[in-house]
Amino acid sequence: MSNIGSYDERVNNFNWDIAEKELDFKPGNMINIGWYCSDRICRMGKSGKTALIWEGSAGNEKRYTYDDLRLNSNTIGHFLRSLGIMPGERVCLFMDKIPELYIGFLGILKMGAIAQPLFSAFGDESLFVRLDNAQTTAIITQKKHAPKVRKIMDKMPYLKHMIIVDADPGKPLPEREVAFDMERAEKIDRFELHPTYAETASVLHYTSGTTGQPKGVKHVHYSLISQYLTAKWVLDLQESDIYWCTADPGWVTGTSYGIMGAFSNGVTQCVLDAGFSADNWYRFIEKHKVSMWYSAPTAIRSLMKAGDEVIKKYDLSTLRHLASVGEPLNSEAVIWSEKVFGKPFLDTYWQTETGSIMITNFPGMKIKPGSMGKPFPGITATVIDAETFEPFAEPGKIGLIAIRPGWPSMMRTYWNNETTYQNKFRNGWYLPGDRSSIDKEGYFWFVGRDDDVINTGGHLVSPFEVESALLEHPAVAESAVVAKPDFVNMEVVKAFVTLKPGFTGSKDLDLDIMNFVRKKLSPLAMPQEIEFIDNLPKTRSGKIMRRILHAKEWGEEIGDTSTLEND
Ligand code: PRX
Repeated sequence: MSNIGSYDERVNNFNWDIAEKELDFKPGNMINIGWYCSDRICRMGKSGKTALIWEGSAGNEKRYTYDDLRLNSNTIGHFLRSLGIMPGERVCLFMDKIPELYIGFLGILKMGAIAQPLFSAFGDESLFVRLDNAQTTAIITQKKHAPKVRKIMDKMPYLKHMIIVDADPGKPLPEREVAFDMERAEKIDRFELHPTYAETASVLHYTSGTTGQPKGVKHVHYSLISQYLTAKWVLDLQESDIYWCTADPGWVTGTSYGIMGAFSNGVTQCVLDAGFSADNWYRFIEKHKVSMWYSAPTAIRSLMKAGDEVIKKYDLSTLRHLASVGEPLNSEAVIWSEKVFGKPFLDTYWQTETGSIMITNFPGMKIKPGSMGKPFPGITATVIDAETFEPFAEPGKIGLIAIRPGWPSMMRTYWNNETTYQNKFRNGWYLPGDRSSIDKEGYFWFVGRDDDVINTGGHLVSPFEVESALLEHPAVAESAVVAKPDFVNMEVVKAFVTLKPGFTGSKDLDLDIMNFVRKKLSPLAMPQEIEFIDNLPKTRSGKIMRRILHAKEWGEEIGDTSTLEND
């Protein structure tokens, strides 16, 4: 029996106080995510239960019980406090998927600071933009990533501490750097939590939009109510489960469901801190007897590409429930997973800003492959006309996804950018920026984004960020960046470039530009292709029309070009 039981009954009788009661939370009381994810599970008599099984790229393994989570997060919280870091300050986590990342996240929250996780593959420039926007006070990192921080340290007088979790013992560190060894540190058994309340800021995740720099999405401790209940009802986490969320906590799935949803439900989860290969993933599932697997369409398509033979080498019979997030999950992937694993991947739709799953296929519900399913109980979601902002009267029409604000894990603002936050609302609806239709039975069918943001392998890339990097190259006059179709990543980044007088497009120049932007962009945002072109399509007012280039790449109708400059 799944945790949600009957979807219709849950929808009809829903109230968020279901989660509040299960978590013994009363409005007005303190709520601290770090405590809920460790101390509370211990108090429930599960201090000896394994919370985290970690495996490194060499196959080395570490295990932590819930009591280890409690003690180590206390210890990190205490250490941060002893450095003079104050509640409300931003502490960045800039690490691979090592245990210190998961436990450090809880420690930061316990002492009342705001956790700012950033993907460890970011280069120094991507890192700087995000730290500068948040005016981050401290960064917790590994020796191997420290040089990237050192490169920008001078530009960041507000960054008082770089904490290195694997520093060489005895080796002196430069000013503002300090070593912290979680395993060796004296454990703090009793830690005085900072009194955090429902609206106290908890997490700051950076996400890319079409224009401007990445935006810091601010979440609060009350978000746990959503993360706990959606993890329980959608991911169907159960006492005996071994759960594997493949996402990196540099991104929201890795925190909402790789930390908060998982540990607040007291489940055992495993983490693989190694690159992707089909063999290695299947071996990992077999070895750890994974039963609940939350992954992403690009990974699923990569597994499909690796073929069905490799699956036969492993015993994957422990898999009980599979779900996916981040990009459109095509029907072929759902049908394939049913064939090879005996279970369909259930699609879940949400975003950094929503903090938790909004629209999804539920365990036990009729699955329509290719559909995102239905709104989570308590979530009022629909599709509205892009001009009137009113819901359509009849099913099947394509419009903007619209959600009534008010669920616990909704972002509270964009950091220092309230205007952009307010712009996400129309007519009382929150607009995530995606297009969809709804069929007669209330199932949502994703159509695409409503802006120029590129979703490559589940990661949002701002065309603006890539174009800005290209424009810094001495040969580049103008650039326009759009998505190009790709079997595995669904979309990849393609750049169109016009050159300054005296330059001609060539293989060498292509390589030179690629090498130039590689230093500025995260590997995820790198263009897969540069096309040199004489003129970019522009409106009469001189705005580059990415839409035309996009349509060409996808073999689509170009649509209305009446505002084009060179008609
Ligand atoms: O465009 C939607 C797409 O990813 C965006 C959110 O990206 P991000 O904030 O990075 O969060 C990703 C993980 C929650 C959405 O606005 N997206 C997310 N899930 C789906 C999806 N597109 C289609 N189907 C999905 N299930």
